[in-house]
Amino acid sequence: MQKTDLVFLKHFAQVIAGLFALMVVLIIGAWVIYDRQGFHEDNPAKAAEVSRRIAPVADAYSGDTGRAAILAAEAAAKAAATASVAFDGALDAELIYKNVCAACHDTGAGGAPKSDKAAWAPRIAQGLDILVKHAVEGFQGAGGIMPAKGGRADLTDEQVKITVEYMVDKYR
Ligand code: HEC
Repeated sequence: MQKTDLVFLKHFAQVIAGLFALMVVLIIGAWVIYDRQGFHEDNPAKAAEVSRRIAPVADAYSGDTGRAAILAAEAAAKAAATASVAFDGALDAELIYKNVCAACHDTGAGGAPKSDKAAWAPRIAQGLDILVKHAVEGFQGAGGIMPAKGGRADLTDEQVKITVEYMVDKYR
């Protein structure tokens, strides 16, 4: 071998060794960064899966006394829920109209459109969705102020909707 070949081999080996060392440094560096940054967050499904696995196999049975208490509590909760809805949640448009809406809409109080076709035709032309929205959320037009749900906040949206449908049918 010539002397120049030996020199080449030496330098070549040094370059290879240098690249190898660089590789090791980069691997370690990548590990450290990965570890610090918390890129490896837990799979969100994991927590759910763990609680599913450690959940009790069955609920405790508290005997008939407990059962009576549970039923009583359920009945009370149901009563409270219906009590806070107007007319016990009845979907009776005529009843709701007579008790809530008629005060203004039969008399024209405060500029409410009365039960005549002329007053309702342009409103009906807006489409039922708009009328329902105005009745539920309240509405101020040229005529006056329509209070949200006719001032009865305890009416459900559904109850207001069927009442508007009832009015529209009546005046169409
Ligand atoms: C305090 C009086 C009052 C009561 C109670 C009332 N309204 Fe009205 N309502 C108005 C007035 C005033 C307007 C007209 C608003 C305007 O166009 O300026 C109106 C308008 C409306 C309109 C037409 C809205 C539109 O877009 O033109 C609908 C529908 C309506 N009321 C439904 C109801 C329903 C359903 C009830 C009962 C749950 C009810 N109102 C109770 C005063 C009342």
